[in-house]
Amino acid sequence: MTALPDIRYLFEPRSTAVIGASHNPEKLGYKILANIRASGYPGPVYPINPKGGTILDWQVYPSIEEVGAEVDLATIVIPKPAVMDAVRSCAAAGVRFLSVITSGYSEVGNLADERELVAYAHAHGMRVLGPNIFGIYSAMPPLNATFGPADIQPGGVAIVSQSGALGAAMIGKTKAQNIGLSTIVSVGNKSDIDEADLLEYLVSNDKTSVILLYIEGIKNGEKLVRALKIAALKKPIVVIKSGRSRRGAMAAASHTGSLAGADEIFSDVARQCGVHRAESIQEALDWCAYLAAAPLPGGENTVIITNGGGMGVLAADACEKYGVRLFDDQGVLKEVFGSAVPSFGSTKNPIDLTGQATVADYRAAVEAAYAHPDIHALVILGCETAILTAERLPEALREPFEANRRNKPAVFSFLGGSDVEMTIETLKRTGMPIYSDVYDAVSCLGTHFADYRHLTPIESVGPVVTSAEPGDVDVAAIERLVAQARKANRSFLLAQEGQALLAAAGIASPRSLVARSLKEALSHAEAIGYPVVLKVVSPDILHKSDAGGVALDLDDPEELMDAYQAIMRSCRRYRPTARIVGVEVGQMVQPGIETIVGARRDASLGPVIMFGLGGVYVEVMKDVAFRALPVDRQEIRSMMQDIRTYPLLLGVRGEDPKDVDAVADCLMRVARVLTHCPAISDIEVNPLVVYDQSQGAIAVDVRVLLARTEESS
Ligand code: COA
Repeated sequence: MTALPDIRYLFEPRSTAVIGASHNPEKLGYKILANIRASGYPGPVYPINPKGGTILDWQVYPSIEEVGAEVDLATIVIPKPAVMDAVRSCAAAGVRFLSVITSGYSEVGNLADERELVAYAHAHGMRVLGPNIFGIYSAMPPLNATFGPADIQPGGVAIVSQSGALGAAMIGKTKAQNIGLSTIVSVGNKSDIDEADLLEYLVSNDKTSVILLYIEGIKNGEKLVRALKIAALKKPIVVIKSGRSRRGAMAAASHTGSLAGADEIFSDVARQCGVHRAESIQEALDWCAYLAAAPLPGGENTVIITNGGGMGVLAADACEKYGVRLFDDQGVLKEVFGSAVPSFGSTKNPIDLTGQATVADYRAAVEAAYAHPDIHALVILGCETAILTAERLPEALREPFEANRRNKPAVFSFLGGSDVEMTIETLKRTGMPIYSDVYDAVSCLGTHFADYRHLTPIESVGPVVTSAEPGDVDVAAIERLVAQARKANRSFLLAQEGQALLAAAGIASPRSLVARSLKEALSHAEAIGYPVVLKVVSPDILHKSDAGGVALDLDDPEELMDAYQAIMRSCRRYRPTARIVGVEVGQMVQPGIETIVGARRDASLGPVIMFGLGGVYVEVMKDVAFRALPVDRQEIRSMMQDIRTYPLLLGVRGEDPKDVDAVADCLMRVARVLTHCPAISDIEVNPLVVYDQSQGAIAVDVRVLLARTEESS
């Protein structure tokens, strides 16, 4: 295959062409040229139109082959029937990147033409952005080859948007909010270049300090997860994910698939990657603007300073919600804030300067907080009073902020009338992180700390072992079970094959042996250990309980002998012609905490594992957590801690803690089976009964589904 060009030349093209450059100022082909001109692009620009002439004083070439110079980026903005010919001309002219604005491809079901376009481009060393996009803006040359607004403010936020219209609108919105962009790219149908390709460039681009992704659908989830994991270790990434479809969940045949929609899985996986998922565009932009400018914290000790107790309580609640840790060394707090707080105020965090606080009190408290090395971040709040008016806010807050904006993270929130609102807007435009809603302020700080934690390496306790290694899972044995099922034309494993899979994966399950006589049953029970269960084994008895073929909780040989004879009698009575092979003697599973462990290939994100508590927790509360593979033990433990009912595993009301290590071990083994046995699509251990610490866990039942083959799909 022909080598593909360095993605850098998409963002930093040394020359650019517009195929479909129009003479008509109302057309997109003209607007794009006008934007290129307005952006002050320094390289050569080649408008292409068979009519020739000039547009915006640029000479127009009848075809790209006639340019006679290298072209890094060609924007294609002509009707679809003409696109393929234009792509061939681009190949002949040695173009590197195609930005295809034209619509009418896979977004309307026309996948074949899109595939043909990409295949041809790749075969001729070109890469494709789009089709169905608004183009690309990059602050670096600078170049605005979009048909969005002309006036883009350069800065540190990179936006990658799947939606063209939304992306174009974000250009306007960022400008209105004084947020500078390093780039904005529309990926549209993602026929070739997708978010993962762009992340590769953006993390190494000096001009970009924060990356915002707007994603509707994911095409290659495994590639995206890999790229996000790497990128989030270098720069903050904010994502807005829409398209909360449950289609995939409905199609899934197992719990692991149906318990949570694709959306819940995405949220968990985003967190796993260290990516911040915003609920709305405004929240995403607030986070980006804040993260692009904020200095890294030196630690997590945060203080709240307020002149209103109620506002302080609201902020404390918000801190809990967004994971912001309040500093509570009372000695230090008293020493730092004692002189600024009246006797009826409080130096306990939140620091309450009280309603009588003057501008001088605020400045004294805020400056002292900025100066103290044990305080790492500030939440500064205020309510409008006759002393602290909108007019005096800049003096009280802006000056100390400006003096320290590079030293310590701080967020501000002020509550008051329309004058206060206007002042907030003015201050915000100067780059101050000030918000009317205290939750908006604290959510920015929470995102910042989440990043800080993600980037702070945790002390290693040895080499990191991940599910990418098969470990001691007997993959060959599992493949034999799969082959056996395929041969029998089944897309699932039978119960005994499932048990064999558990054994091959090293997951403990109840021991069981088939006995052909009472004597043998007694010796098997001795070997397994009482109490045991007996189940009739007969190809002619499907519903064992209905036939009286099951006996539970047999404590000793006497009980076993009675039960054995009772089973034989009632089964013969139930179906006199039944062939009775013998009885299965099984270990009686003792009660413990029921959990559910699953792994599946998610349609959009690839292989994922799932954990939850069983029974009512999973059925009613859907209290489950997901992670994308590969995972290591630390990630597995963090997933387990994500569920709301995790404290039940730690032991409540005087109960002993449960064997969480055994659960983590089972999760790792299930992850390994899915990773190393591509023929398996779903595994679900339900229930996995967990006992007290060091007593292990036992997989009572397992369900295994096979991936569709060419013939079955
Ligand atoms: N090479 C170069 N120029 C060509 C050409 C070719 N093969 N074929 C046509 N042109 C010229 C035309 O002469 C015209 O120039 P003119 O106005 O000076 O005569 C210009 O290219 C545009 O062609 P036209 O036929 O007028 O197309 P259009 O501007 O009406 O529509 C698209 C073209 C791409 C805008 C339209 O097909 C489309 O896909 N629209 C949707 C775009 C969109 O929404 N994208 C997603 C955004 S999120």
